[in-house]
Amino acid sequence: MYINFWYPMATGAELTDKPVKVCCMGLDFVLFRDSAGAARCLANTCVHRGGSLAGGKTKGDCVQCPYHGWEFDGDGVCHRIPSLGSDARIPARVRTDAYPVQERWGIVFAFLGDLPEEERPPLLEVAEEGRDGWRLTMQNYELKSNYQRSIENGLDPAHNEFVHDTHGYQGENEGYKVNEMRIEERGEWGRGFWHTFNSPKLPEGEMRKLRDFEGDLEAGTGHHGPNQLWTYIHVTKENWFHQYAWERPIDDETSWIYLVTARNCAIDPAQDDYIKERNWYVAQQDITIVEDLHPIVTPETNTKEFMTPADQVIVMYRDKLSDWEARGWRIDFEKIQADSRKVAYAIPGPARREQKSWVIDSAPVIDASQSRRRTAEPVSRSA
Ligand code: FES
Ligand SMILES: [Fe+2]
Repeated sequence: MYINFWYPMATGAELTDKPVKVCCMGLDFVLFRDSAGAARCLANTCVHRGGSLAGGKTKGDCVQCPYHGWEFDGDGVCHRIPSLGSDARIPARVRTDAYPVQERWGIVFAFLGDLPEEERPPLLEVAEEGRDGWRLTMQNYELKSNYQRSIENGLDPAHNEFVHDTHGYQGENEGYKVNEMRIEERGEWGRGFWHTFNSPKLPEGEMRKLRDFEGDLEAGTGHHGPNQLWTYIHVTKENWFHQYAWERPIDDETSWIYLVTARNCAIDPAQDDYIKERNWYVAQQDITIVEDLHPIVTPETNTKEFMTPADQVIVMYRDKLSDWEARGWRIDFEKIQADSRKVAYAIPGPARREQKSWVIDSAPVIDASQSRRRTAEPVSRSA
C-alpha cells in the first residue's frame, strides 16, 4: 500500500451533516462537510487524548471531538479547546493531518500523502465526462481481498475466457489463446494494453441489442497508480463501455471499489439500473476468483508465481510499485498492524513538509534502501 496517491473514501451521498469514519491502509480518517458543503478529510485520531473525531459532530467549518470538544477545521487547525476557556491561545502543535479532497462523479477522493500540489500524481480522469452521446453511472462495492490482486485481475487478458461467460467460452474453446497485446504507455503513473478476443453474442434481452453476433471484441485496460484502473470494452465498433475503477485498500485483505461506467450506447437514463446490474454480474465473477487467491497478498517476489507473456502488464505494474517503494511511498503495513494497539499513526499530510513538530507519529514506510520486492526474470517465453 502506497501513500501519495488519490484514494476513493466515500460516496458524496454518504457525507451529510454528520462526520463519517473511513478506514484506508489500516488507518482511520474522518470525512465531513464544511459550512460551504465542501468535503474535507482529516486523520481521525484527536491529538488531545486519542478521541475518534468521527464520533463527534460537525460544527460550522469544524469537526468537534466527542471527548472534550476540541474543534478542528478542514485544514487540520484547532480552533477551540473548551477546557482552556473561550479566548485561549491554541498551541501550533495542536493540529491534525488534513488531506486534499476532490469530489467527482459522486465519489469523494482524498490525496493521502505529503507531496506538494505540483508533484502529486493526478487522479485518474473520466475522459468521457460531459461528452455528447455518453452517459455515466457509478456504483461501489466491497471486495474481501487485497486491492493489488484486484488491479492485477483487471490487467489480466487471459481470465476473460474462463471467468466471464459474456466475454468468452468458459474454457470450452479448444482453439483459444491470448492474441497479441499492444502496450499503451500512459506516462509516469500507468500503463496498459489493447487486444482482441473472441466473444459470444451477448445474452438475450437488452444486451443482445448491443451485440448480436459472435466474433472479435476489442478491449483495452490499464492501471493508473497502484489503485486505479481503466477498462475500455468495445463490444462492437460502435458500442463502447469505458470503465474507471478506484480502489481503497481498507487493510491487506479488504478493499472497497468505486466504479464509474461511461457508455455511448443504451444511454437512456432508464437503462442505468440495468447497466449497473450487468456490471455487478461481471464483478461478482471476478470477486469469486479474487477472494479465493492464495496468498491473499501478492508474493514479495515474482519467482513465487510462474508468469507468462499474458502476465506481462502485471509484471510491469509490479515494477512500477517497486519504483514507488524506492521513493519511500510504500507504507509498512505490517508495522502499523503490529503496533495498532499501542501507537496511533497518521498518513503524513502536505502540512508536515512545512511544520516539523507533530503530536501523532507519521505512518512508517518501508525503508527505500531495504526495498523488499525484487523483480526476478519476469516472463517465461519457453513453450
Ligand atoms: S480526546 Fe479529543 S478533545 Fe479530548
Ligand atoms: Fe474480470
